[in-house]
Amino acid sequence: MPRTVLVTGGAGFIGSHTCVELLASGHEVVVLDDHSNSSPEALERVAKIAGRPIAAAHVGDVRDRRALDAVFTAHPIDAVIHFAAKKAVGESVQIPLTYYDINVGGTTALISAMHDHGVHRLVFSSSCSVYGDTTTVPLTEASPAAPTNPYATSKWTCERILADACRHVPELRVLALRYFNPAGAHPTGLLGEDPHGVPGNIMPYLTQIAVGRREELSVFGDDYPTPDGTGIRDYIHVVDVAEGHRAALDHIDDEPGMVILNLGTGRGASVLDLVRTFQEVSGRPIPYRVTGRRPGDVAELVADPSKVAAAWGWRARHDLAAMCRDAWHFQQQNPYGYAR
Ligand code: WQD
Repeated sequence: MPRTVLVTGGAGFIGSHTCVELLASGHEVVVLDDHSNSSPEALERVAKIAGRPIAAAHVGDVRDRRALDAVFTAHPIDAVIHFAAKKAVGESVQIPLTYYDINVGGTTALISAMHDHGVHRLVFSSSCSVYGDTTTVPLTEASPAAPTNPYATSKWTCERILADACRHVPELRVLALRYFNPAGAHPTGLLGEDPHGVPGNIMPYLTQIAVGRREELSVFGDDYPTPDGTGIRDYIHVVDVAEGHRAALDHIDDEPGMVILNLGTGRGASVLDLVRTFQEVSGRPIPYRVTGRRPGDVAELVADPSKVAAAWGWRARHDLAAMCRDAWHFQQQNPYGYAR
């Protein structure tokens, strides 16, 4: 059924791709974004791809109750997808209190505002990083949480808060989606990953090397207990992640309370696998140097995606080469990203 959906962080990498899927599925979309790591131009491109604009774009901080109250008062919000957060493992080790303030403070402000305005459906952007340093891969939703960095701990803490909120408010429904590693871009080349400053995530770093903006990749450690010694991750195409959020809205009323679901492919790739695939797809050399491990990193994170497949009949469709191809296409079309 068509809904009016508030998308916090809707101008960001995953948020903008999700807005396209929501509009294409007939939903009305309202965005709240402070543009600390996004550009308003992304929302213009969302409209171009979807063939129609979002209903409204509010510029503001998700921790700001007045900004939230203004949004809920102005629009008949039926469900919320909460992306707005900081998301870089390495950065979170450097500025942990900022991560707790924004990620946890933003989520508590949002869930309180939702409650005050009678809005009871939330899709929450969680992370595979909550699983921490584990040797038992692939990971199911029943795998224990053992976060190893402030970003992961902030997401784990939000999950606990939302579970308590669901126990307190019987009509509240929360889907906590634990993304593995979103990567790639929209096949049109109009939307993609364009972080402010030096990319924390590896894929935009690769595309910025290939387009001539960066010199070489620092490979953060080759002494992990993996086949080639470098970190293994489950990269999932951002369009798959966006489609997963559309499916989430179709299923949010299936069960009461909070449901946790992995969004991953079930296939792992090491840093060197990714570098090799990107070079093959782009035809561009990626110079790299092995450096020390990044504090907070873990050896391997790969999803068991069977729970969401059984529940929704949904699974990721794109492979690593498609992620590299689409990410590179976006960077070629936008050498310096979106206009700031
Ligand atoms: C991937 C691999 C690094 C950069 C985090 C969040 C996750 C998601 C994505 C939100 C690791 C290595 C990286 C570099 C490198 N967030 N690497 N050199 O930390 O796995 O995941 O971001 O959607 O929830 O946990 O992603 O891309 O930073 O790292 O060697 O310059 O690449 O050590 O093995 P990460 P990442």
